[in-house]
Amino acid sequence: MIIPAQSLLATLTFVSLALAHGWIGKVTIGSKSYLGNPPALYSTNPPPSVIRQIADVPPVKDVCSADLTCGTQATPAALQAPAAPGDPISVEWHTLAGAGYWFHDVGPLMVYLASCAGVASCAELDSSETTAAEWFKIDEQGRDGNGIWAQDKLDAGAPASFVLPQTLKSGHYLLRHEIIALHTAQYVGGAEFYVGCVQLNVTGHEEGAPNAKAGELVRIPGAYTPTDSGILIDVYDLLPSDAYPFPGPPVAALVSHAESGGASTSTQGKIRTTLPGVQTTEKPTAAKTTTSVKG
Ligand SMILES: *[C@@H]1O[C@H](CO)[C@@H](O)[C@H](O)[C@H]1NC(C)=O
Repeated sequence: MIIPAQSLLATLTFVSLALAHGWIGKVTIGSKSYLGNPPALYSTNPPPSVIRQIADVPPVKDVCSADLTCGTQATPAALQAPAAPGDPISVEWHTLAGAGYWFHDVGPLMVYLASCAGVASCAELDSSETTAAEWFKIDEQGRDGNGIWAQDKLDAGAPASFVLPQTLKSGHYLLRHEIIALHTAQYVGGAEFYVGCVQLNVTGHEEGAPNAKAGELVRIPGAYTPTDSGILIDVYDLLPSDAYPFPGPPVAALVSHAESGGASTSTQGKIRTTLPGVQTTEKPTAAKTTTSVKG
């Protein structure tokens, strides 16, 4: 049988892109690691976790969707992870592809928290209650001074890393980690949102809280529009020195500058490691010649 090269290529491209989409497979808080379950489509009757399970791997593309809160049809997790203010946290995104590494490499990484006050555990917040929660941003990582995205490190196998605010008030929190893949974001609806939530039990005696009057608290969905300048954007037009306009609220003031990840000024990712047999680029060659509709 002769398969036309073009349809074979299309099939392979489709398969590799589907494999590239993912979920939070592991979170490390301080020195302790917790596993997340693959999406429900691939994992029925999963063991209890601190990471909310999503239904399937494709990205959320509608910024008004309830799936933007914690990922596609995310369900509450049974457990909460103990955490302390100032703990380093790393999040590993897993995919269905062999090596399991993240695949996309352009776009920001952001982290939000929402208090689960009023319930005994974040496990009690169902999806509609989670959507109604008020979120504040604790970290955002864009590009370094050479124009290298923080997301680029993930496809070499590195986890996304950040720090829990030093002064964070104790209590139960949902931690929302978000990757926005911007490789087709020059079109309205082209940005891809990958999100997952981890349930935390934060100990200690700190009192740091977000400032609602400063606009630090948002609903998700609700915090973004399809034409925000960081969501409708031709990233291949950016100069290395151009600042990326992060969508959503500012990083909450309770996060001191010293502890914020702020990849736009850090030197991380300067050296690109290419792993044999792992596709490390997805830059569409046509991107430079398309006419973008910038907002
Ligand atoms: C939260 O942590 C405290 C302190 O370790 C513990 O007493 C409490 O049972 C935990 N609560 C939940 C719901 O995880």
